[in-house]
Amino acid sequence: MHIHPDALAVARTFAPDQPAILNRPHAAARAAKFFVENFPGRSLYAVKANPSADLLKVLWDAGVTHYDVASIAEVRLVRGTLPQATLCFMHPVKTPSAIREAYGVHGVRVFSLDSLEELEKITAATTEANDGVPPEDLTLCVRLRVSSEYSELSLASKFGCDLTQAAELLQATRQVADSLGICFHVGSQAMTPHAYVQALERVRAAIVDASVTVDIIDVGGGFPSIYPGMEPPPLEDYFGVIDRTYESLPVSYSAELWCEPGRALCAEYNSMIVRVEKRRGEELYINDGAYGALFDAAHVGWRFPVRLLRDGVSDEVEGFSFWGPTCDDMDHMDGPFELPSDIKSGDYIEIGMLGAYGAAMKTAFNGFDATQVYTVSDEPMASQYRGDRRDPRVSDNVVSLR
Ligand SMILES: Cc1ncc(COP(=O)(O)O)c(C=O)c1O
Repeated sequence: MHIHPDALAVARTFAPDQPAILNRPHAAARAAKFFVENFPGRSLYAVKANPSADLLKVLWDAGVTHYDVASIAEVRLVRGTLPQATLCFMHPVKTPSAIREAYGVHGVRVFSLDSLEELEKITAATTEANDGVPPEDLTLCVRLRVSSEYSELSLASKFGCDLTQAAELLQATRQVADSLGICFHVGSQAMTPHAYVQALERVRAAIVDASVTVDIIDVGGGFPSIYPGMEPPPLEDYFGVIDRTYESLPVSYSAELWCEPGRALCAEYNSMIVRVEKRRGEELYINDGAYGALFDAAHVGWRFPVRLLRDGVSDEVEGFSFWGPTCDDMDHMDGPFELPSDIKSGDYIEIGMLGAYGAAMKTAFNGFDATQVYTVSDEPMASQYRGDRRDPRVSDNVVSLR
């Protein structure tokens, strides 16, 4: 594998005709080691954020042994790529055939659920896969609904059992499970550690109400990365409050603490080189967009960092919007993306921090799915893990806790 110094070198050497995804394995390995060494429990990688087999191998080599998978395709992918990995099927609504195959063929023993209906489905499908004998080796995690109010992307509406139904579901699950967990998701890109404290207080209420022994507390994903206009506190702060709150919960003596980061482990892994095909005032027509790696930029107005890849650029900067390559008006990214004012057709732009829910979102709509992939060794455009971050809450010796 050839490793290029950076995006500028790739643009100069190859003048890519298609969008080019850049891999930074060193950045993903650094993120994984940070979680493995600093999170006060076990870190599962949420595969949906970026299911690249190359990335899975990087994370495994960096010490990530457990993987949160959400579909049978992800189960097969991880099992095929990392035969020794522990797979946790954390989608609360699964098909019976997916559960049967996961349990019977791929050795999956951890499942999540948020209803009695799903509990019955898991029991029936795993019994069937176990030659008609109810299994005694299930780890079942009940997903609680928690607030997403501190996160940029909500996950509060679709999944999760309400506190009012939690006691009944926890008691029923305890009857079937060898190991009982409680999991939740505070929403993606949680901008304050307090999100986890609030969710863990809800977990405390559920445990007290149900009076069951709980073996796993899984605080889910939501750990933030750095994007323009989004500077979260350091991850150490998140880990600190999670640890302290978890330690005060009434759980079994041998209970385990888990988390399931997606974004935080892979955001820094990819950036993308796109070419400007046309300029119309402050609108740039580029060769990737809403149906490519820029789904979030188009649909939730996410602003990714950008830089123009040529020497001798104007010092003057303007805010541009982007049009993607398809024939669809929705293929539009508002930005604004700050770029030199003399940018023109034929120029290349690097768009950073696309490792999470970016590279993974590409579709073939309208025939625009061709991509080249290169590995580079430079730093990502922003990093949580370089050790040179200043705490955004600290200014002029005043600390304000959000
Ligand atoms: C169950 C579950 N766990 C973990 C994640 C990863 O979340 P994030 O990328 O915000 O860390 C998700 C994302 O949707 C999820 O649904």
